[in-house]
This record gives sequence, structure tokens and C-alpha cells, in this order.
Amino acid sequence: MIRSRILAAGGYLPSDLVTNEALAQRYNLDTSDEWIVERSGIRQRHIAAPGETTSAMGAAAARDAMARAGILPADVDAVIVATATPDSSFPATAVRIQAQLGITQGFAFDILAACTGFVYALSVADSMIRSGSARCALVIGAEAYSRILDWTDRASCVLFGDGAGAVVLRAEADAEHGILSTHLHADGRLADILHVEGGPGSTGGTGLLRMAGREVFKHAVTKLASVVDEALEANGLARHDIAWLVPHQANIRIIEAMGKKLGLAPERVVVTVDRHANTSAASIPLALADAEAAGKFQRGDVVLMEAIGGGLTWGSALARW
Ligand code: UT7
Repeated sequence: MIRSRILAAGGYLPSDLVTNEALAQRYNLDTSDEWIVERSGIRQRHIAAPGETTSAMGAAAARDAMARAGILPADVDAVIVATATPDSSFPATAVRIQAQLGITQGFAFDILAACTGFVYALSVADSMIRSGSARCALVIGAEAYSRILDWTDRASCVLFGDGAGAVVLRAEADAEHGILSTHLHADGRLADILHVEGGPGSTGGTGLLRMAGREVFKHAVTKLASVVDEALEANGLARHDIAWLVPHQANIRIIEAMGKKLGLAPERVVVTVDRHANTSAASIPLALADAEAAGKFQRGDVVLMEAIGGGLTWGSALARW
């Protein structure tokens, strides 16, 4: 039986680390460290330097993941990038990254599912590996949200950060370890509660992010609870079988609610939102890289990933390490 297995994760964060206080000062925002920490758990974020592209960040994360996995450019036959902030409308950011990494075979494309992007990309890569279309995929989440934030909207601009994460996913003849399931969902009727207003196909420009935070929060709690149940049920697993929760990092209150739902001790929930803020499609692979660097995952551990974001889109991925 062929399964796809995450061999390693890697990450990249821009060098400009901005605390809540520094952000308020830099953009002249009527906010406070206290409000941001209490409502979201965010203490700081990284912001891309002028000229630092999504593809450059994605390539850096991929290099890190490849080095940890012991994989060479010649081994990779698929580059799949989840991003809502591509370098340009086309070509895909994935082909830019492919070229920057010196990969000359296989295929490369982008996936857009906002904050659920990494789960979508992992699902597509897993399907392609199991069907034999690819053997070794780089699955990357890379974002430069600082370029689509409205820096006069304190309700949204304090919540996001830039960065990239990546995993190496490889075909293995192994029935036990690897991606066990993925479940994807979307409901386009809810598109406008978290969206970018404008873009190349509507206004012609680059739009700005708009979020009805309270609405999104409400959907996040119910929809993530239901995908968690769906993943457990599909695999015949119980809550106590989950060793680690690696959630999308949007808000500590949502993350803690999911940890509680699973009956997990707080140290079993991987949290980076305090340090990275919400890096959208990059948040789960960055959290995986963070957890791996800390030596958290042991072979055989069941790791549950879940995310919700613009679309609305939401989903889960369950893996046995
Ligand atoms: O990654 C995709 C998924 N995204 C999410 O999951 C985000 C989901 N939503 C959230 O995380 C939360 O809704 C937020 C963190 C965005 C907001 O927290 P909240 O507890 O829902 O606050 P709120 O939007 O209801 O705002 C409460 C108050 C408002 O004032 P009034 O109307 O009560 O007087 C806001 O104007 O806080 C005010 N406020 C702020 N105050 C200081 C909003 N933003 C700020 C700010 N600083 N930055």
C-alpha cells in the first residue's frame, strides 16, 4: 500500500520582528498590546522586507525542509504552493520556487484556499502521490499578508504576519505511517465575511483584506469542531488516540477550544500564534517545523491538523508520524 509521509518540515520567517507595541507605533494604530494579547494571543509577528517576495520566503522554507529530510532538488517531482499572496497573477509562485530551488523536472502549481490553503495543498499532494502522479512533493504555504492589509483597520491588521512553511511529502510503501485522511470543505455563500476586496479580475488592482472577525470566529468554533469529529470518525479513532493537535494559528481562544474538545493537555497543542501571528497558509507548516525542531513528534504519533479561512474554506488532515 502506498501512503504519502511527511519526511520533514521547514520554515522561514522574515527578520523584521515587530511586537504589538512597535506595530501600533509604526502604523499609528489606536490599539494596545493588552487588547491584542487578550483577544488573539498574538504578541509579535514578522514582516517581509521591501522586495522580499512570497516565492523567496517559500523557497527558503522548502530548502530548510529538504535539508532536514535529506532530499535533493533532483528527488522532487511536484511543487505545490498554497498562497493568497502570490508574487504575481501568473506564473504560479510554485514555478518561481521550483526555479529558485533548481528543480527542473515534474510539475508546479498554486492552490488558493486562504488560511486553509496548506490543508488543501496537502490533500491534493497526498491524492497525487497515492495515485502515482508524483513520488516526492514539496508542499509549501507562503504568505506576505502585510502587502494586503489595510493598515488603517486596527481590527484586522494587528492579526496577521508574513512567513513560509514547507513539508517534504514522499511516497512510501507503508500501510501504517503517513497521511491517514484529509477532509476538505467550502461554502462560498460565506465568501464575504473574510475576503480581499478587489483584485486583478475585478478592480484590476491588488485589493485589501476585509474581515468580519466575530462572524468568522463563530464559524471557526463550530466548523473546526465538526471537522475534528469527521477526521476521528473516518479513521475509527477516539480523542485519546490523538497525540498532537497542530491547528491553524489564528486565535489562541479558538486553538484552546479545539484542544479542550479533544481532551488534550495544553502541551499537546502546538502553538505559534503568539510569536508568528496568523500567517494564513504558512501557519500549519511553520507550526510543524517548530514542533519538529523541539523534538515533539515521535514515530507512531497521530497528528491532527485543522484550519479554517476565507471562502469560507475549512478542513483537516490526519497523519501518523
Ligand atoms: O485565519 C482565518 C480565520 N480567522 C479567524 O479565525 C479570526 C476569527 N476572529 C477573531 O479571532 C476575533 O473575532 C478577533 C480577534 C478578530 C476579534 O476579537 P473579538 O473578541 O471578536 O472582538 P470584536 O471584533 O468583537 O471587537 C471588540 C471591540 C470592539 O469595540 P466595541 O465595538 O466593543 O466598542 C472593537 O472596535 O474591540 C475593538 N477593537 C479593538 N480595540 C483595540 C477591534 N480591534 C481592536 C484593536 N485594538 N486592534
